[in-house]
Amino acid sequence: MSKDTTIPPLFTPFSLREITFKNRIMMSPMCMYSAKDLDGTPNEFHIAHLGARALGGAGLICTEMTQISPNGRISLGDAGIWDDKHIEPWKRVVDFVHQNSEAKIALQLGHAGRKGCNPLSWERTNPLPNHLHWEMLAPSAIPFGPDTNAPREMNEADMASIKDAFVSAAKRADKAGFDMIELHCGHGYLLSSFISPLSNHRDDIYGGSIENRMKFPLEIYQAVRTIWPEKKPISARISAVDWVKGGNEIKDAITIAAMFNDVGLDILDVSSGNVTHEKRPPLTGLFQTPLSETIRNNIDIPTITVGNITTGKQANEIISESCADICAIGKGHLYDPFWSHHAARELGYTEPWPKQYLAANNFRENNDRMTQ
Ligand SMILES: Cc1cc2nc3c(=O)[nH]c(=O)nc-3n(C[C@H](O)[C@H](O)[C@H](O)COP(=O)(O)O)c2cc1C
Repeated sequence: MSKDTTIPPLFTPFSLREITFKNRIMMSPMCMYSAKDLDGTPNEFHIAHLGARALGGAGLICTEMTQISPNGRISLGDAGIWDDKHIEPWKRVVDFVHQNSEAKIALQLGHAGRKGCNPLSWERTNPLPNHLHWEMLAPSAIPFGPDTNAPREMNEADMASIKDAFVSAAKRADKAGFDMIELHCGHGYLLSSFISPLSNHRDDIYGGSIENRMKFPLEIYQAVRTIWPEKKPISARISAVDWVKGGNEIKDAITIAAMFNDVGLDILDVSSGNVTHEKRPPLTGLFQTPLSETIRNNIDIPTITVGNITTGKQANEIISESCADICAIGKGHLYDPFWSHHAARELGYTEPWPKQYLAANNFRENNDRMTQ
């Protein structure tokens, strides 16, 4: 952390391998269900959406969960990178971010597993018609909830082909110019469903203890790491706790973090829950930040914290109190693409605006942010 007291800790740079983020603010991954022609292809929407938050000052932009295969989708609108035809459209997004900002951009890679076959998020009053369903894969044939179809239990061939698909997707991500990959190992999607005892009832080496349940996600990480350029970092998002009786607890999260650390993961993105249809208890405020802090205090691995971070002051305190190394902002970025610049002003600091927007320095607003 910088000793320069004129720079709020939130706005100090942070490096992983050879990639340096200009500040500690990340745009959190958020599914937009807006792929062109429902074939996974990102389009002008993704350039505008991710580009705006890069212009908005975040040091790290993360894409939505981008699927490694068509049957790894949550909905037909999901973004994908399962085909070479996706490389060029993603490169346009990455190039826009690199050419118009100092932000770095990560691709969140995932597979929805048993959480597939959904309508677009704004069409969920009715289920997806049966004729549009695809085969869902999971560690065990346990449905996500009472109203969802059962997935098929994965066999060794499925596991090998999913691993190949992650590796091919990562190669495409590199060709598209992404600076970092985040593996989605949280929220009940495929890799997460291996880690949680609630969704993994396997009796082979991939089930049972937390060490066994971690085997498949670690194999995916290691396979991706071998082809991902040495200079570029990899993150993994986890559900640190399941918030459901019988599920993973913070002691398991420490084991998960230790196991990822042992194989060289660069940073852990600490989220929680969403592993079954059961809702987590009503938790408010920065309820996930203590999970990041506990992991960071026990295991020597950098962390990203996320969840309900609203103000620059909160984010700055998280960094200055060493609860995390990066703050991910989700809904805040939907509400305000310029969240980072506004947080800087709130902290009495000027984050350099894009050259086209320099006049924004002279804008004076009279709202709560300015008076906090
Ligand atoms: C519209 C929307 C889509 C989301 N999609 C993803 C996703 O693709 N991958 C992921 O890991 N989390 C996803 N999340 C979770 C966010 O990344 C974040 O963890 C969560 O919103 C809490 O942070 P916040 O309070 O700052 O919004 C999504 C959240 C929202 C609101």
